[in-house]
Amino acid sequence: MNITSYQQHLLSDIDRLTAFYEAINQKSRGVVYDLGTGSGILSSWAAPLAHFVYAVEKDTLTAKLAQKNLKSFKNVSVLVNDARNINFSENADLIICEMMDTALIEEEQVPVLNSVQKHLKENGDIIPCGVFNGLEAVHLDSNHPIYHEGKTQHELMSKLLIYDKINFKKHINEKKDHHITIPINTDGIVSGIKITTFTLLTSRLICGPTPMLNPPLLVPTNHLNVKKGENIILNLKYSMGGGLNTIRASIETIS
Ligand SMILES: C[S@@+](CC[C@H](N)C(=O)[O-])C[C@H]1O[C@@H](n2cnc3c(N)ncnc32)[C@H](O)[C@@H]1O
Repeated sequence: MNITSYQQHLLSDIDRLTAFYEAINQKSRGVVYDLGTGSGILSSWAAPLAHFVYAVEKDTLTAKLAQKNLKSFKNVSVLVNDARNINFSENADLIICEMMDTALIEEEQVPVLNSVQKHLKENGDIIPCGVFNGLEAVHLDSNHPIYHEGKTQHELMSKLLIYDKINFKKHINEKKDHHITIPINTDGIVSGIKITTFTLLTSRLICGPTPMLNPPLLVPTNHLNVKKGENIILNLKYSMGGGLNTIRASIETIS
């Protein structure tokens, strides 16, 4: 395959690939859009089961490589464009969109889905079809959000709490404003949260974080001395697709 080093990392993540492969094998049919096709790997799995695949990639160099990788498939067309700008001439039986990132904050998954949902046929499918977002209170030494790749030291101070469930087939409000009560289970100082995203490839196939699919995100907050058994309130705002600099996270005791 012709690929960039970023695409190489994506293709080295076997757990991510296995989950997508299984979902595409179950759902590919008719007209497929593969939005953010990258190397074209997901289109190459969808094409043998589909009538036609529109593989969309906004990065020109990556799109050229996808064109080379997919040239043997006569039923695939690579479109070099932002997926939000395309006026598709036929509606989709399946939309594959892998512009995922933790809590859907950094990448354009949500704005892209909001703009293409109107092109999905009534009984159509989307892969992934949604996410569950969870969080834990943590003690953390960082003054900026950081993806946890096994190196960042942090101490867990609460259980995992699912705070949001998003269905990709429905319009998604891009602005999030949560006020979440977190039961603390250890004495110490809370200074951040750890966000974990679970991806629903299909309604029956869930994939936890992998190195290249939503690695947990550590977000600093103000510091708060806490006792085991106490509840604290987390105020958490961000814009999905707006980037990590839209995150506002603060904690307070319950008065
Ligand atoms: C995480 S990669 C996934 C690549 C490939 N689908 C895979 O699973 O290996 C996301 C790709 O989406 C592309 N992308 C991001 N935003 C886009 C947009 N608005 N329209 C089209 N492509 C986009 C990026 O350039 C990148 O190649």
